[in-house]
This record gives sequence, C-alpha cells and structure tokens, in this order.
Amino acid sequence: MITSVFDQDYLRDPHQVYARLRGQGPVAPTATSRGVKIWLITRYEDVKAAMTDPRISKAFAGNLQVFKANELEGGDSSGAAAVVPDTMLFSDPPDHTRLRRIAVKAFTAGRIRALRPRIEQISARLLDPLGPEFDLLKDYAIALPAMVIGELLGVPEADWPRMIHLSNTTIEGSAHDPQQVVAAAEETLAYLTDLCAAKRAAPADDLISAMVRIHDEDGRIDDVELVSTAWLLLVAGHETTVHLIGNGMRALFAHPGQMARLRAEPALLPGAIEEFLRYDGPVSTGTYRYTTAPVTIGGVDIPAGQLIIVGLLSANRDAGRYDDADRFDITRNPAQHLAFGHGIHYCLGAPLARVEGEVAFGQLLGRFPLLQPAVPVDRLTWREGMLMHGLTALPVRTHA
Ligand code: HEM
Repeated sequence: MITSVFDQDYLRDPHQVYARLRGQGPVAPTATSRGVKIWLITRYEDVKAAMTDPRISKAFAGNLQVFKANELEGGDSSGAAAVVPDTMLFSDPPDHTRLRRIAVKAFTAGRIRALRPRIEQISARLLDPLGPEFDLLKDYAIALPAMVIGELLGVPEADWPRMIHLSNTTIEGSAHDPQQVVAAAEETLAYLTDLCAAKRAAPADDLISAMVRIHDEDGRIDDVELVSTAWLLLVAGHETTVHLIGNGMRALFAHPGQMARLRAEPALLPGAIEEFLRYDGPVSTGTYRYTTAPVTIGGVDIPAGQLIIVGLLSANRDAGRYDDADRFDITRNPAQHLAFGHGIHYCLGAPLARVEGEVAFGQLLGRFPLLQPAVPVDRLTWREGMLMHGLTALPVRTHA
C-alpha cells in the first residue's frame, strides 16, 4: 500500500524525512496527504534533471487528467482544480514562453533596484509602531511582500488589507479545504478583472497597466490570461517571501554565533540570504508535473502518466552536492541552490525576493540590536501542507 510521507513526522521535521528518503533511493513512490499517488524526487542532480526534462510537463489540462487517474482508493484529487489554469506556472512552451515574456520586463534587476527605496519605506512604516513584543510573521513578514507586490502591480493602497486576506486564504486553504481556495481565487479574479478595467480607463506606471496595454494593442495575452497572470504574481509573490523572512530569522535565532557574525559584518547579508534559502527555504516541493512519456530518473523507471514532485528542500540538503549540508553557515555562498527552482520555470520573482530579503533583514537587525525569540526556538510550529515550508508564528521581543 502506498502511504503519504507528508505526515506528522514531516510536519515536525521535513529535513529528517527527506534525509531518510534520500538514503533509501533517488525516487520515493508516495502519495499526497489527500491520497493521490506521486513520485517524489529527492536528490539534487535528479531534481535538476527532472525540471529540465521535456518529457515532464506542467500543462494544466494534462496535470488535471493525470491527477484524477492517480487517485488511490479513497483518495481525493479535487485540490488540483483549485489552481487558476491560464498562467505560466502551469503551462509548457510555447504558451509558457509567451506568458512569461509579458511579465518578465517588470522583474529585471534594474527595475527591482529602482523599487528598493519604496520597499525600504514600506518596511519602515510596518516596523515603526512595533515593539517591545510582536509576532514577526503576523505583524511584519506577512504584510511586507503583499504590499510590495501590490505596489508593483498597481493595487490601490486602500485595497491592500483585502488582498493580503485573499492571498492568505488561498495559501492557507490549500492545506485543508479546496473549496475555500476556489472561493478565494474567484473573489481575487473578480477583483482583478475590475482592476484591469480601471487601469484601462486610467493607465498608470504599473504592471497591470502595462499588461492591459499589451492585451489591447497586440493581443499577445487574452482576457483570462491577463487576470490569471496578475493572480499568479499576487499569490506567488506573497507567501514565499513571508517564509524567507520567517525561516531565515528562525535559523539565525537557533545559531547565535551566526547571528553575531551577521550583525558584526552586515556586508555578509546577500550571501546569508542565499544560505537561508538553501538551508530552510520557503518552498518544500515544486508544483505538480507529470510524465508524458516513460522516463528514468536516478535509475528508476517511471511510466508515462505519472505525477512528479521535485523535493527542493531535500535537494538543497543533499550531501552529494553540499559539504556538511545540514550545517547552517552564512559564509557558505551556496551556488545554484534550488530554492527558486530551475529551468524554464525558475522563479520570475527571484530578484525581487532577494531585495525584499535584504531590506527586511537589514532593517530588523539594524533597528533591534537585542531582537530575540519570545519562545524557545524548538517550540515554534510549522504550518501544514506539502508545498510551503514556513512557521505558524514567530513571537519575538526587542529587549533582553
Ligand atoms: C523567497 C521567495 C520566493 C521563493 C523561494 C520562490 C520560489 C519559486 C519556485 C521554487 C518556483 C518554481 C516552481 C516550480 O517550478 O514548480 C517559482 C516560480 C515562480 N515564482 Fe517564485 N519564489 C519566491 C518569490 C517570488 C516573488 C516575490 C514573485 C513575484 C512577484 C514570484 C513569482 C514567481 C512566478 C511568476 C513563478 C512562475 C515562473 C514560471 O512558471 O515561469 N516568486 N518561485
């Protein structure tokens, strides 16, 4: 019988589960927590190879079909339908190439650099009222990336709280209730449809206005894709960065020597962020892929029509790739970690996430010289779900 590895042990410590699986073999036949059969790839080189194999597809319609076909007895594949279909994340070339190209200009290093002062301002505004005790997630990390992506897309400030709520429901619900996700996605799409109309009437210097222009001028993106892309950017740009901040800060709290080193040498911060991403990144597994033909991964034959899950967290702790992979070392400079994925679906928002991380850690450490956890680090709990890896809360205090 196939059981899910995404159980209570996984929730307590995914790294231990992944280490066991890597030791057992390159591919673990297992199931999602809702009883759909998947093949979980756990080693660095195999994960990379799977993410560039043209026989492994991300196309939405195919994914849905394969999902249904791999339901185990009593399993429930309805969660897959909760995803918005017409986006780059669930498409193959040429659609993927076309959709990604439309958004990519907004995320060049130059544009993101230009956004930095505004990110600093938003971050300072959130931190100003905080102290002496607060929840670093709820009171800061959840709001910052949502406000930044809201700014980039052109969501009016008055609507930011609603947007944060909808994005949270989308991600939270995915662990529990697909219906909740569908409802949140529908409400977000309706909101974004209205926003596109508003931008058409009064264009501004923001990403939604730019995409509306492309839609109206040359039709390279259709109505549904336009709104779906805005939705993807909202959701993908939010929760991930929240947990870069939360998991990174937790790792520093758990390693006071590394915290002291970073405080003493702030120039280490960009490299430290790469190590936060490698050591305990926010995304545990890639999104669903499926085989369109038989493939062999790490010597294991996988037939056509199977769901493939790449273990990003696992690959980043593979001792075959990184020396002493379980050691947290902010000076390691972990080249080519897989926290942002690999291949054509490599995270579009990586430059933005890195700058947000630099601003967040820079300001938190700069403002609060005595910042420390308000509960023992080993009592912090992780949120449920296969995709994301992040804390439920991170209570801190700013005094000794
Ligand atoms: C630390 C923060 C982040 C992490 C760890 C992260 C991680 C990832 C990963 C692993 C993928 C690939 C998924 C797969 O292949 O299955 C991805 C794709 C993507 N990410 Fe991120 N992400 C982060 C932040 C952001 C931000 C800030 C944005 C946008 C504002 C963003 C937008 C996207 C988009 C649009 C894709 C789809 C790209 C494609 O399919 O071509 N991400 N991200």
